[in-house]
Amino acid sequence: MPTLKEVVKPLIPRELWDKIPRSFDIIGSRSGAVAIIEIPPELENYKFVIGDAIIKLNRHVRAVLRRVGAREGEFRLYKYEVLVPGPTEVIHKESNYLIKVDPTKTYFSPRDQGDREDIARQVMPNEVILYPFAGVGPYAVAVLKRQPLVRLVIAIELNEYAYYYMLDNIKLNRLEGKVLPLLGDAAKLMGLFCGVDRVILTLPLGAHRFLKQALMCVRDGGIVHFYHLGTEENLYGEAEGLVRNYCSELGFECQVISRRVVRDYAPYVYKVRLDIKVGKF
Ligand SMILES: C[S@@+](CC[C@H](N)C(=O)[O-])C[C@H]1O[C@@H](n2cnc3c(N)ncnc32)[C@H](O)[C@@H]1O
Repeated sequence: MPTLKEVVKPLIPRELWDKIPRSFDIIGSRSGAVAIIEIPPELENYKFVIGDAIIKLNRHVRAVLRRVGAREGEFRLYKYEVLVPGPTEVIHKESNYLIKVDPTKTYFSPRDQGDREDIARQVMPNEVILYPFAGVGPYAVAVLKRQPLVRLVIAIELNEYAYYYMLDNIKLNRLEGKVLPLLGDAAKLMGLFCGVDRVILTLPLGAHRFLKQALMCVRDGGIVHFYHLGTEENLYGEAEGLVRNYCSELGFECQVISRRVVRDYAPYVYKVRLDIKVGKF
């Protein structure tokens, strides 16, 4: 199968070849997919050529969107320019589960798959898990598909579209009774669920505002997965500083049991994760 670059090169002047994107995201499956690509301004006049090439390269792609700017707002959404119009609600196949989503309405990234699997591997039978920034619920699904003996995942989401997709995803993956989906603000709802075994805080830009609450909610010996941003020179320094400060303020013994770069976030900036074991006595 030829690459995007190989297909569009004959249609784009030679001096712009090094600007042609090497990759793009595909969300969806054989039943229909949407492709999402970043195109630099130098290729403005060739954006539709690139869109058409993506459709030709992948027969399941029905719509092509160009990502414009960075994620914005509390729902963490991109703005998109439509290069090839088509349906954007898709069913994404990941590992052994399905995720229904419309990336124009809710957050979802197929690039987080490795992180979902890494979290799922850590979860033990009978756990109760608090998942405050749940989006369409992919971490809940990944965890429950790997560890069906989890007692409950309490999944809180503010964006109504994401919440309704999460309800669909619970049904689609036959997880009724295993997820408690809640539509609302985590700041108001998290405190109702104290004593949980694990908290998954998947909001790299802002989870620190909920970290103190998460540390208070988890049981003695429980785990908090804290996401934050780190620079190339100092990947974990700021995140670890926040953990140290809150734990000492609360009088908890916190141990960072693992550190991980989840993926790139922006040039020289990474989404990172700390796994924190919280001791309370
Ligand atoms: C980075 S996304 C992660 C979503 C999901 N966990 C995933 O991995 O696909 C963060 C999500 O938190 C939601 N959110 C932001 N602030 C929130 C709040 N105060 N309470 C509940 N959800 C919130 C956003 O709407 C968004 O869907």
